[in-house]
Amino acid sequence: MTTTTPEELRDEVRRRYAESAVAVSMGSGGCGCGDGWCCTSGEGERADFGEGLYDAEQRAELPDAAALASLGCGNPTAVADLHEGETVLDLGSGGGIDVILSAKRVGPTGTAYGVDMTDEMLALAQQNARDAGVENVHFLKGLIEQIPLPADSVDVVISNCVINLSTDKAAVLAEVARVLRPGGRLGISDIVAENELNTEQRAERGSYVGCIAGALSRGEYEAGLEAAGFEQISVEFTHEVASGMHGAIVKAVKTTDPQGRGLPTVQPATNAGCC
Ligand SMILES: C[S@@+](CC[C@H](N)C(=O)[O-])C[C@H]1O[C@@H](n2cnc3c(N)ncnc32)[C@H](O)[C@@H]1O
Repeated sequence: MTTTTPEELRDEVRRRYAESAVAVSMGSGGCGCGDGWCCTSGEGERADFGEGLYDAEQRAELPDAAALASLGCGNPTAVADLHEGETVLDLGSGGGIDVILSAKRVGPTGTAYGVDMTDEMLALAQQNARDAGVENVHFLKGLIEQIPLPADSVDVVISNCVINLSTDKAAVLAEVARVLRPGGRLGISDIVAENELNTEQRAERGSYVGCIAGALSRGEYEAGLEAAGFEQISVEFTHEVASGMHGAIVKAVKTTDPQGRGLPTVQPATNAGCC
């Protein structure tokens, strides 16, 4: 039996999403979350992944390529209550759809950052931002396990179907806690498993690169967020994408009382796997 290392898994994720970005740049749909499904090729569109999760008004704000590049499993901009002048960070920003929409919400006095590890996705996002005419955006190359931003610099962290792809989820949550200001908010979409599904059962339902096998359970998400120093935690299932696996909205607030709550040190954890 061959074992896949976390680095190999991450390379596989990068390859998959690089191919997807190139496909979108050439005018076709990208391969994203959702197994065996390549957005617009073959079997038709799935309503539980991609641009169908954005309303008509939001799609009208976007260049076609940005909407086509949507590979998420929710709409975090509808979840996060963004205000004028805020700084927003999108983890795994892909083709930039949520960064562009956030930039419009926070206005010219605010800033929207996207972090992604895949060069082809960063190039696509930058092109999409130019086409959308938004200037208050910055796309940064980096890992969400080592976010390239200073501590306490962000008001809101969003993400769309990316944390399930991380090979070190505890590190991601520790990094989110580090970059958020005290009282800062997390509002993300992700795939989340019901608690009774073990890791093998999750893997039976879909691949890792297809956003299924690496999903945390609801209990693991809640425990991981609490350990990272979050409060007001909620994990709400929105739509089932496979048996016992759901698109979900995850919300939490970074504690304003790190001493009282015992916030962990900001060193990212090194253990691979989940929290
Ligand atoms: C499923 S796509 C979602 C893209 C975007 N959020 C959306 O909704 O369209 C996953 C994206 O996350 C990026 N990604 C996956 N794992 C990452 C990691 N560990 N660090 C940084 N980026 C990562 C991939 O390059 C890809 O662009």
